Amino acid sequence: MPSSRHRSVAPSAARLTESLRDIGYDFPSAVADLIDNSVMAGAECIDVVIRFDGANTTVLICDDGLGMSANGLVEALRFGSRRTYDSSDLGRYGLGLKTASLSQCRSLTVVSRRVSGGTTSARELNLDTIIEWDDWLITAPSKDRVREAEALLGENSGTVVVWRNLDRVLPERSPEGGWARRRIETLAKKTADHLAMVFHRFLEGAAERRLTITVNGEKLAPWNPFAPEEEHTQRLGLQSFEVTLGETVGQVRLDRYILPAKERFSTAARFEELSGPLKWNRQQGLYIYRGDRLVQWGGWAGIRGIDEHLKLARAALDFDTELDDLFQINVAKMRVSVPGQIKQLLERPINDLCIAANQVYRDHSGRGRRDDQLSGSLGGGQLPGTTGLALRSAALQAGEYEALKRIASRLETVAPDVWRALGFAAS
Ligand SMILES: Nc1ncnc2c1ncn2[C@@H]1O[C@H](COP(=O)(O)OP(=O)(O)OP(=O)(O)O)[C@@H](O)[C@H]1O
Ligand SMILES: [Mg+2]
Repeated sequence: MPSSRHRSVAPSAARLTESLRDIGYDFPSAVADLIDNSVMAGAECIDVVIRFDGANTTVLICDDGLGMSANGLVEALRFGSRRTYDSSDLGRYGLGLKTASLSQCRSLTVVSRRVSGGTTSARELNLDTIIEWDDWLITAPSKDRVREAEALLGENSGTVVVWRNLDRVLPERSPEGGWARRRIETLAKKTADHLAMVFHRFLEGAAERRLTITVNGEKLAPWNPFAPEEEHTQRLGLQSFEVTLGETVGQVRLDRYILPAKERFSTAARFEELSGPLKWNRQQGLYIYRGDRLVQWGGWAGIRGIDEHLKLARAALDFDTELDDLFQINVAKMRVSVPGQIKQLLERPINDLCIAANQVYRDHSGRGRRDDQLSGSLGGGQLPGTTGLALRSAALQAGEYEALKRIASRLETVAPDVWRALGFAAS
């Protein structure tokens, strides 16, 4: 119990709520954070509707999950909702629903039903009301304001989140104009691409639960960064590491892939698709998953730099939510920081991946082929250009990569022509 010596200095609701708007979300990641909530509520089907209507543009995210009771809904709208989390929970801070929504809009309405065919509860959290009263107030919206959300829900249990007054998305002047319309259309496309990537395991049915997500009525196809269905994708084998954080022991898993070079993809269209939102070069590197949900991608998380020659190298890094503190997941679930001890563990397997990916790249780029022809002719012209890669891949798979490196180094001294002809000069 606080004594008379203590004094409460509650934060200003107006000031704090305004500053929480800039916590680091962009539009697609804000939608994704709401979908995390739907996943945790057991939803199987999630519909995202992004509808342009000038100043009345709305975004609705509807799920068929467990829904919330009237009291549950009020608690859900508290900044820092009070609840406990189990180990596979995608939620963590009790903030996402509010911070993700208000990062894009000024009015958030949540309509929810717990039992199919039962009554719905609805509450609105409006930034202007909070600012006017400098208090964390929520209100019961009128029937009119929830009609569309209720229609989306039908008779199902589930939850609909509605964003209105999208001041962070629409221009203040002429929100009705062509520029605003194009912006909304672009955001809808970006959101679809983002969701297809970050929830790809759920869309594929590879996660604990299979999800269907639609954006403006279109069903999303998963975007799997590793193109496992391509015949020439190489998988270097799954590695698991145990990591200790105080009392907690967690698992980190690394799964390395080399994607095929352009001409070895089944079709040119698939190659373009696999390029990803950031395009080939910037999509190389680690794809970090937390509870099967992708939270960070593009680049090597500080282990090495982006390099054109490594653009075919991608690897999945999975960590358990027990290790959240170690990975310092941020509120927007958009960024983690790979701790030093894990970087050390990953350095060698990633280095091996990069050597092999570099070889595939060189074997299929103009310059790489010329180099190989040259070394082939020095060795008698009998060896295919993929000799170096084949040797390295075989050594990696046999767990003898270090031995091959020692042999290559010796060979370079005793028979440099043979060393070159075998393609070792390329690494
Ligand atoms: N779509 C939904 N269906 C059912 N319950 C929901 C839904 N969205 C939110 N909730 C409830 O509201 C609570 C608050 O959600 P919010 O996103 O703010 O925080 P969180 O998910 O607990 O943590 P985080 O800040 O990491 O997202 C959730 O814990 C959940 O109990
Ligand atoms: Mg959440």
